[in-house]
Amino acid sequence: MVDEFRVFGGRRLEGRTQVSASKNAVLPIMAASLLTRDSVRLKDLPKIQDVQNMARILAALGCGVHWEGRDLCLEPGKASKWELPDDLSKTLRSSIFLLGPLLGRFHRATAAYPGGCEIGQRPVDLHIKGLEALGAEILDERGMIYCAGEGMKGGTVILDFPSVGATENAMMAACLIDGDTVIHNAAREPEIGDLQGFLCAMGARVYGAGTGCVRVTGVTSLHGCDYAPMPDRIVAGTLMMAGAMTGGHVELVGARAQDLTSPIHKLIRAGCRVETAKDALVLDAPDKLAAQDIYTQPYPGFPTDLQAQWMALSCVSAGTAMIVENLFESRFAHAAELRRMGADVRVEQRTAIVRGTSLTGARVRARDLRGGAALTLAALAAKDYSEIENVALIDRGYERLEEQLSSLGADIRRIRS
Ligand code: EPZ
Repeated sequence: MVDEFRVFGGRRLEGRTQVSASKNAVLPIMAASLLTRDSVRLKDLPKIQDVQNMARILAALGCGVHWEGRDLCLEPGKASKWELPDDLSKTLRSSIFLLGPLLGRFHRATAAYPGGCEIGQRPVDLHIKGLEALGAEILDERGMIYCAGEGMKGGTVILDFPSVGATENAMMAACLIDGDTVIHNAAREPEIGDLQGFLCAMGARVYGAGTGCVRVTGVTSLHGCDYAPMPDRIVAGTLMMAGAMTGGHVELVGARAQDLTSPIHKLIRAGCRVETAKDALVLDAPDKLAAQDIYTQPYPGFPTDLQAQWMALSCVSAGTAMIVENLFESRFAHAAELRRMGADVRVEQRTAIVRGTSLTGARVRARDLRGGAALTLAALAAKDYSEIENVALIDRGYERLEEQLSSLGADIRRIRS
């Protein structure tokens, strides 16, 4: 049985919706919970596939895992294993940042090399170099990564690239080892700040998240905590673009403007009005959007996770937009699907040229998580009827996206075929 979306486009989105907790904050925070033996309660989480898969991995390590409504209750004290289950760690690429917490807790970690995925090779060399800089001994052979951390101590990590995951791995590994650690060229994404917030709520000494230089002073143990992760800025950006593409008015409760400075700037340049109300980000769309170029960059640049959605928006904007994808080498798979809807998109390696036109419904297929979201947005703005296959990829990062869009007035439903 596979799910697909059926969409009748052309309807203006209007309304107010709650933005869920951030997938890309929750996943490293769930991994970091292994650093304590006490209970941890993560509040109001989205029940999306990646979160469910990370919960399965924690349970496979022996960690107690149960849901109380939307709160995820963890008993990391029961964890006793440090070998990640192959099948689960290949399913969830971001399981690679369990290496740091497992080294911190057990001084041991074993994982299968996470494969590439739909958007690129996804190497892990920066993760490994970062952990080695802290004294971990790492052997990778026969597709496995074996880590030993008995001799780990604080040190200097210099990342060749501000990798989000490599920054998070080093931060988590450094919390329970003796000495001071400095991570230079650290990623500045808001999710790094949220991980710092969680680690400090457990009694860790972590500073500097968001500045590009993160400092950690090792402590002997961490205690449990309750924690509410930050709102999902990529879901918020996706919904803002849905409102913009349909001439709508959307109010995103919980979304934080400071997490989305670059996309908001582009939406305003495209003709939208964006305001921060008391507890929501509010967007009013113009009758016609003006095409805007984007170049994806590490934070605070335009986020690669909103590139596909911006391409969909550019398809229905007036003028021509140039989209340069600097982060991942194959993150344009949605372009071919958009062309099936009448889009005028030409791709040359990491650059796409999009000439605004109108879109017509078609049967299209999600090729990756954010590309699938982009096709859904395109279907909302297209004339007549679309079908989107393979929405299981969308479910990895969006909680019942069709219900959220329906609550804003879209004509979209999930069909099981
Ligand atoms: C995180 O992935 C996010 N995932 C990604 O979101 C996001 O696209 C990415 O950061 C960039 O913002 C999670 O947080 C779970 P990186 P991550 O390490 O940590 C290269 C989504 O749609 N690199 O910052 O894997 C890598 O190839 C997902 O929610 C190395 O070369 O991203 C890429 O070109 C997709 N060696 C660049 O760095 C390494 O060891 C950025 O990757 C690691 C990364």
